[in-house]
Amino acid sequence: MSLSGSAVPAPPTAGPAGLAAARAHLFTTGSVERYRHVLADGIDRVATRVATADRPFTGVTPDDLAPRVAGVDLDRPLGDTGAALDELHDVYLRDAVYFHHPRYLAHLNCPVVIPALLGEAVLSAVNSSLDTWDQSAGGTLIERRLVGWTAARIGLGPTADGIFTSGGTQSNLQAMLLAREEAYTHVVGSSTTRLSRPEVLSRLRVVTSAAGHFSVQKAAKLLGLAAEAVITVATDTNRRMRTDDLAATIERCQRDGLVVMAVVATAGTTDFGTIDPLSRIADICTAAGVWLHVDAAYGCGLLVSPTRRHLLGGIERADSVTVDYHKSFFQPVSSSALIVRDRRVLRHATWHADYLNPARMVEQRIPNQVDKSIQTTRRFDALKLWLTLRIMGPDAIGALFDEVVDRAAGAWRMLTADPRFEVVTRSQLSTVVFRYLPTGAGRDLVDAANLHAREALAASGAALVAGTKVDGAHYLKFTLLNPETTLDDIACVLDLIADHAGRYVRTAIGSTLPCPVA
Ligand SMILES: Cc1ncc(COP(=O)(O)O)c(C=O)c1O
Repeated sequence: MSLSGSAVPAPPTAGPAGLAAARAHLFTTGSVERYRHVLADGIDRVATRVATADRPFTGVTPDDLAPRVAGVDLDRPLGDTGAALDELHDVYLRDAVYFHHPRYLAHLNCPVVIPALLGEAVLSAVNSSLDTWDQSAGGTLIERRLVGWTAARIGLGPTADGIFTSGGTQSNLQAMLLAREEAYTHVVGSSTTRLSRPEVLSRLRVVTSAAGHFSVQKAAKLLGLAAEAVITVATDTNRRMRTDDLAATIERCQRDGLVVMAVVATAGTTDFGTIDPLSRIADICTAAGVWLHVDAAYGCGLLVSPTRRHLLGGIERADSVTVDYHKSFFQPVSSSALIVRDRRVLRHATWHADYLNPARMVEQRIPNQVDKSIQTTRRFDALKLWLTLRIMGPDAIGALFDEVVDRAAGAWRMLTADPRFEVVTRSQLSTVVFRYLPTGAGRDLVDAANLHAREALAASGAALVAGTKVDGAHYLKFTLLNPETTLDDIACVLDLIADHAGRYVRTAIGSTLPCPVA
């Protein structure tokens, strides 16, 4: 390990020599050769590390790693790129979690496509900021084209618009902001009495399913809604929103003088990969005059699927849709968008500042994106998707996503046929929720054995799987997003889990159980 300051003398940091040294690091006309070399060096380190990664993780613990990171003297630069990259290897690259590896089966993280990495390199070097035209020029137009392209894939019609965001959490937050403001305007406009804003906000409700994403609850809290504002309705045996419960909930709210400001349907639940019945939900929302938001952070990959687009049937009736390209379009973090049916609702995110986006710009028809965003300075993340579409095309992305959905179906079949495991519902996307379930072990022991197996597997670094709770019990989860993951990989990981969990159970009950059958 080479910690800072150990071998390389510190570069000059003061006086004219220090200033000249600092200026040499600026990316300017005079430093393009340096830029080429430095980036090539960094790319080479990453390529070497990925090429030699024989497992997704080294199993490093926070206790191992923390002293190494803490030992870096941030006030004493190494000056030299090679030395800094050596150090980076020690504090990050060697022990990072590699989503590129076929046995990374844990969270909704995808391996990324090379055209998007090219986009990432270009966008950070040019460093456009997508708030205003005078900081982005063509970037603004490219983002607008991609928003339009996505809206057309969803089928939202000619008035649609949207904005790129940092992720599904932000897209859901902005959707709830727009829905809240629309509901507020409607309630105040239709009331015969004067209502204060807090009074109205306290009556607003959001309805989602028990399998919806927690960012909906977080958004409600950030938006100043009541603590009980998010009502979760039950799911069916396939973990899809129960529409009878949804209809009854909306009716109950109306009877109680509450206002349902939005229904959030999920197209790809995080744990179960299931898609709520979007058409039926849209019928209910239309009848009740309620905003329908579809959280397709995960399921948006189906928009380009050559074979499964129909699974999103009904999404075209949404008022707003969250798409996370950094989940199922194989894009690097961050890359997400909120798409809305009626572009006028984006005005709720608008604020004119004299120095940046005065109202006269609208009259002058100078395009800007800051009027639609809750951010100001904003990355040109859209460029990654642009290059991906221009180099690979949408069908190629859809084919990659189809492949992981097929693989998950294969994993589900494998698990249902394996007496060592119990598997929960079959995903429409690419997750598999299951647990090791030896005969004769009590509930607490089964929970502990599955928790142990996940931890032991991560500590070995041989594979990474996720965990979740189903009806209060601990389960394990595969999220498959790497088309390179084979059924052999999955079979091998299942054997490792059964080994770890089985050993745990046998130790716990003093080897009185028969060995689990492999
Ligand atoms: C269904 C769903 N919605 C929203 C999110 C949040 O997305 P992000 O992590 O990009 O903020 C996730 C994350 O896993 C998700 O699965």
